[in-house]
Amino acid sequence: MQLPAMEQSVKVKVEVSDVSLAYDRTPVLRAVSVTVEPGEFFALLGPSGSGKSTLLRLIAGFNQAQSGRILIGGEDVSRVPPWRRDIGMVFQNYALWPHKTVAENVAFGLEERRLPKHAIRTRVTAALELVGLQDYGARRPGQLSGGQQQRVAVARTIAIEPKVLLLDEPLSNLDAKLRVYMRAELLALQRKLGITTIFVTHDQEEALSISDRVAVLDGGVIQQIGTPIELYDSPANRFIANFVGTINLVRGRAARSDGGVTFESPAIGRILLPGAVGEGAAEIAIRPHAIVLAQSGAATDPARTWVDGTVEAREFLGEFVRYVIEVNGAEITADEPHFSDRVTYKPGDPVRVGIDPARVKLFPA
Ligand SMILES: Nc1ncnc2c1ncn2[C@@H]1O[C@H](COP(=O)(O)OP(=O)(O)O)[C@@H](O)[C@H]1O
Ligand SMILES: [Mg+2]
Repeated sequence: MQLPAMEQSVKVKVEVSDVSLAYDRTPVLRAVSVTVEPGEFFALLGPSGSGKSTLLRLIAGFNQAQSGRILIGGEDVSRVPPWRRDIGMVFQNYALWPHKTVAENVAFGLEERRLPKHAIRTRVTAALELVGLQDYGARRPGQLSGGQQQRVAVARTIAIEPKVLLLDEPLSNLDAKLRVYMRAELLALQRKLGITTIFVTHDQEEALSISDRVAVLDGGVIQQIGTPIELYDSPANRFIANFVGTINLVRGRAARSDGGVTFESPAIGRILLPGAVGEGAAEIAIRPHAIVLAQSGAATDPARTWVDGTVEAREFLGEFVRYVIEVNGAEITADEPHFSDRVTYKPGDPVRVGIDPARVKLFPA
């Protein structure tokens, strides 16, 4: 079937420039600046209460900022009401009309815009087809699964052909398996439409897996903006290091030494970090898969720094085993790829923990 009404939309840029917002006197967004490129799938990631929904609602026009500007397609919309912003928003709870059919739900926004009847029919059919619900138009939301309801909410939003698609935790009401399936589907749909999309989530795995770029918010402040790989490999601070992916943080002291830093901590003793810069109270960050384990007493790679520990717990995850190792009173998480002929350790086993200094990041504490 032809979908002339809904192929590739005009791609617009969304610019949030130095925006601050407070409720009463409590600051919720502080000098937030983000540029979302035309056609980008962009995530706003942060813990609960960090200001993600507030920022999204601000872009939609439901919130008012105290200062700063919002541009959509180069036009300052700070004083443009939500219904004139050409924006489609999908809410976490879908907000479907329970007594209307699926087709009537999708048609609703088009009727409000007073489109001719035949145009509404064409757009509803096209939108339902895009989300794979062409045979469900006559059902009511209550007769659909959670995933199907979510698709109706998306269909209803794209039917109005917005220039920007805003999604506020659209997958968080779905069970874990469906969430993984639906996020890929959302991305495929976004790619098909080419629509600039801003996706809010508190789930770092969700953000990393489907986004072109991610802005991480904490306490109303943008901590870092980058591609998923940039955030993971080059976290700007310890918050990002800890929030994006799993990481070990070890407290200690840094001292300048030849071509780098000597870091000393009660947990892992002394480790030389070539190329690092820093002095005084500091923390090092090490990813679990950058650590190797060896049997106690075995010959070990001298390029690594080794400390003795005891296996405290392990989780068998199929592709790899995640160990928690006790070293001098601290806990270190280490991931080892699993193969049937490879040694696995049990809780209580003594092990050696090998750290590659080249894979250690240093942050001021
Ligand atoms: N209408 C409001 N009035 C007062 N405070 C609010 C209002 N909406 C949100 N907040 C507060 O603003 C902060 C950010 O909220 P929100 O943007 O919903 O966070 P997130 O979506 O990241 O979980 C929270 O501390 C929240 O309690
Ligand atoms: Mg929210």
